[in-house]
Amino acid sequence: MPTYDLYANEPGEPLWQVPAAGAARFTWEYDDGRERLLALYQKGKDKQWDGQLRIDWDVEVDPCDALGTPEEAMALYGTPYWAKMSERERGELRKHYASWQFSQFLHGEQGAMICAARIVESVPDMDAKFYSATQTMDEARHAEIYGRFLHEKIGMVYPVNDNLQALLGDTLRDSRWDMPYLGMQVLIEGLALAAFGMIRDTTTKPLPQQILAYVMQDEARHVAFGRMALRDYYQQLTDAELREREEFVIEGCYLMRDRLRGVEVLENFGIPKGEAEQISERSEFLQLFRRLLFSRIVPCVKDIGLWGPRLQQAYVGMGVFELGDSNLDLLMAQDEEIAEKLDAERFAVEERERVAEVGQAIEEGAGEP
Ligand SMILES: [Fe+2]
Ligand SMILES: [Fe+2]
Repeated sequence: MPTYDLYANEPGEPLWQVPAAGAARFTWEYDDGRERLLALYQKGKDKQWDGQLRIDWDVEVDPCDALGTPEEAMALYGTPYWAKMSERERGELRKHYASWQFSQFLHGEQGAMICAARIVESVPDMDAKFYSATQTMDEARHAEIYGRFLHEKIGMVYPVNDNLQALLGDTLRDSRWDMPYLGMQVLIEGLALAAFGMIRDTTTKPLPQQILAYVMQDEARHVAFGRMALRDYYQQLTDAELREREEFVIEGCYLMRDRLRGVEVLENFGIPKGEAEQISERSEFLQLFRRLLFSRIVPCVKDIGLWGPRLQQAYVGMGVFELGDSNLDLLMAQDEEIAEKLDAERFAVEERERVAEVGQAIEEGAGEP
């Protein structure tokens, strides 16, 4: 079904065109790759998978309870609006929220695919081009999977959030080759990982859990790549150049913290914008999300060498400064482990079912003359 038939709100022009600036770069040196980057490229190739096969699409999803979100976690819970809603309307609200959330994932993944392709084009070194080509494929798979989930299981799509779109635009319009890394790999992916992780670890439903666990397994590589490439490059920049990057990070962090919270959904339920903003602001889910949101971004920014006084001050102001010391490697290793464990569990169940079926067939066979 055309996505245009599923949009909850008018998505505007069918094509969004961001004018490209900067050069496409060729290099004639094919053999001086950095070992760690080439190892990551190898891993990227080894760990390719097919979302049509690895994910159990036969699992049924109730669009009005797609994630098993408890009542108390809904932004409207405890307000007079919630009290007035029937069970059916509450289900509808859940459906809109799930659709809004996964639609932002979908649009973000398209952005990630485009940024990864841009990096292939513009980054000067062959090892980074190679790696980023595998990431482009990863991101295509992610967009494909989120798209399928929304089309087949939720049946509703939300347009891209204005602020996410603005950040994507800023990231892509910039002619400096490191900006797609910084905007996409560090900021947007950092945000996405926090949101994916929160749903992966709280949902009671198997299908979204599989999707998020497997997508996060790939994202762990993407973050590692961004860190490696930027850490090397930022050591060569002047103070002034580093401060510019820090400004970009600060602005992006404020934007994502304050502006990505699904106010559009509440507006669709007849709640005026100002009030919808206040309600979202008070929600416990948002408070928790905000703390988690920075768990991936702050240590990464510190690690790549953007840790000037302005940035430190901004993070102190947001109450997330001490997250700079959290262990990013550990978080990433956990993301990989969770996906592998899920595979192992699912495989064990399938094996048990297979053995049971064979056993039954033998029994039935034995009963016949
Ligand atoms: Fe992705
Ligand atoms: Fe990614």
